[in-house]
Amino acid sequence: MPTSLFCAHLFQVVIPVLANEKNHLNWPHVVCQDVRRHAHSLQCDLLVILEQAKGKTLLPLPVDSEKVEFVDSESETILESTDKSVIYAIESAVIQWSRQVQVVLKRESSQPLQQGENPTPEVELEFWKNRSEDLEYIYNQLRTIKVKGIAGLLDKLQSSYFPAFQAMFRDVVAALTEAQDIHAHLVPLQRHLETLESLEFPEVKPRLQPLLHVVCLIWATCESYRCPGRLTVLLQEICNLLVQQASRYLSPEDLLRSEVEESQRKLQVVVDTLKFFKQVFQDRRENLQSYFKENQEVREWDFQSSLVFMRLDGFLGRLHMVQVSVLTHIRALALRRSEKSRDPDRIRKGLRQHGGQPSTDWKNT
Ligand SMILES: *[C@@H]1O[C@H](CO)[C@@H](O)[C@H](O)[C@H]1NC(C)=O
Repeated sequence: MPTSLFCAHLFQVVIPVLANEKNHLNWPHVVCQDVRRHAHSLQCDLLVILEQAKGKTLLPLPVDSEKVEFVDSESETILESTDKSVIYAIESAVIQWSRQVQVVLKRESSQPLQQGENPTPEVELEFWKNRSEDLEYIYNQLRTIKVKGIAGLLDKLQSSYFPAFQAMFRDVVAALTEAQDIHAHLVPLQRHLETLESLEFPEVKPRLQPLLHVVCLIWATCESYRCPGRLTVLLQEICNLLVQQASRYLSPEDLLRSEVEESQRKLQVVVDTLKFFKQVFQDRRENLQSYFKENQEVREWDFQSSLVFMRLDGFLGRLHMVQVSVLTHIRALALRRSEKSRDPDRIRKGLRQHGGQPSTDWKNT
């Protein structure tokens, strides 16, 4: 059964049956409570999974959390009468939320690269957009939890889980602010990337300088992004995009179909463009100070460019090999043509001049 159907079945049939108190009229109270708790927990797990599929982190509320809702901050009697099981449920929930939030906070945009995929910069933009949205979703849930007085109850009970909740809230706010800031700074790249993807490769070259110009601006203006680990991810992805576009332009079928001279010309366009990109990178790197304000400390690109260009250099190396074999092919073709066009009389004359011995000289001309 597909997951969605299975979930629908659980929601429509199993959970209502379990949760409906009328179904356990004859059961002992403890059993009823237990069944109800399990039904609730099952429902929460399912909701978490369903939201996860949409890229959202749902923090499930503890069972009986509605009982907490109207805890009067001044009233001590309510605290004393608060059911131990409710407190236990809230504390368990805080542990679960912390785990869920940690998973989100630990996510890195470099993951696809590290897994050996070849993501393009769009993945970086999407990562920060997704992260902002998910963290905002989490933030709103934590605020609701605060508003409902669930966190406040832990505070009044001097539960050791209250500081944990506070810390989690602070971390989420910090990460949300950072993700929103980075996403806002990355957005101007979008237009450049779309243009680059829509162009035929021979038109890409004049777009490279403006693209890296924006990258430098991001470096100088977005403090959260001003870290080699982050920038090298973006630069590697830009290289991936260039390799992708170059490969499309040089598609093997086209290369085989077209004239060798045409193939050679296309290869040269790609090699020139990619080498030019490396030059522009070097040039921008040496002029980073021009992007910083006068009173601002200039942060250089103190990372190895070989890391950024690893894949691009590998690609250039392979192109070079293809170029060599294309050249060999062109020479062989030229030779065959010249053989055909050679006057048979002259060959005979040549043979005579060399005393009847066939000369191999002309093959090398
Ligand atoms: C962003 O979220 C969407 C929807 O969940 C998902 O399909 C996509 O893979 C996510 N992208 C990244 C880069 O995480």
